[in-house]
Amino acid sequence: MINIKIILGSTRDSRFGNKIADWVLTESDKNNNIKSELIDLKDYDIPFFNLASSPGYMEDPGYSDNLKKLSEKLSESDGFIFVMPEYNHGYTGVLKNMIDTFYNEWKLKPATFVSYGGISGGIRAVEQLRLVLIELQMVPIRSSVHIPFIFNQFSEEGLLKEETKEASNIELMINDLEWWANTLKLPREQKLK
Ligand SMILES: Cc1cc2nc3c(=O)[nH]c(=O)nc-3n(C[C@H](O)[C@H](O)[C@H](O)COP(=O)(O)O)c2cc1C
Repeated sequence: MINIKIILGSTRDSRFGNKIADWVLTESDKNNNIKSELIDLKDYDIPFFNLASSPGYMEDPGYSDNLKKLSEKLSESDGFIFVMPEYNHGYTGVLKNMIDTFYNEWKLKPATFVSYGGISGGIRAVEQLRLVLIELQMVPIRSSVHIPFIFNQFSEEGLLKEETKEASNIELMINDLEWWANTLKLPREQKLK
C-alpha cells in the first residue's frame, strides 16, 4: 500500500481550496492501492521560518510538538499531491514557508499538483513549484491537473458540476503518482538507510 498525502496550500478563512482538496481526496480514495490523507496547513499553526539553517543540514531542527507531528506525517508519505491556487502568478507564501521548514521528509519522493485559479488554472504557480521541489531532491511528475475558472466548475457544496477535460485528468494523474511512488519506494529506503 502506497501512502499519499494531499497538501492543501491555501489557508484563507474564505478559501475555495478546501472544496478542491476534498474532491481530490475522494478521487484518490478510489484507487485501492493508495492510502490517502489530507494535510490542511490550517491545522498546524506553522511559524514563519526561523531555523538556524536549512533543516537539511540539521540533525535535530528542534521542532515544536506541532511541527514534529507534521514531520511524522510527511515522513510516512511515499508521495504528495499539492492542491494549490495561483496568487499573483506564483504559488502561495504559506506553501513555500511550509516546504522550507522540512527537508528530509521530502527527499526522493514524487509530487504532483492540482492547481486552480482564473484563466490559467494555476499552471504558472505549478511550473514554479516544480523547480523548487527539484532542489529538495523530489521528483515532480509530468501528470497534473489545472482547473481554470474554478468558481464555475464546483458547486457551493464542493461538487464538480461536470466532468471537464481538465478534471478528468485526475485519474491518470493519481495512477502516475502511484507508479512513481512504487518505483521510488524501495531504492529510497535502501539509499537513506
Ligand atoms: C492574493 C491573490 C492573488 C491572486 N492571483 C491570481 C493569479 O495570479 N492567477 C489566477 O488565476 N488567480 C489569482 N487569484 C484568484 C484565485 O485563484 C482564487 O481567488 C482562488 O479561489 C484562490 O484560492 P483559495 O480560495 O483557495 O485561496 C488570486 C487570488 C488572491 C487572493
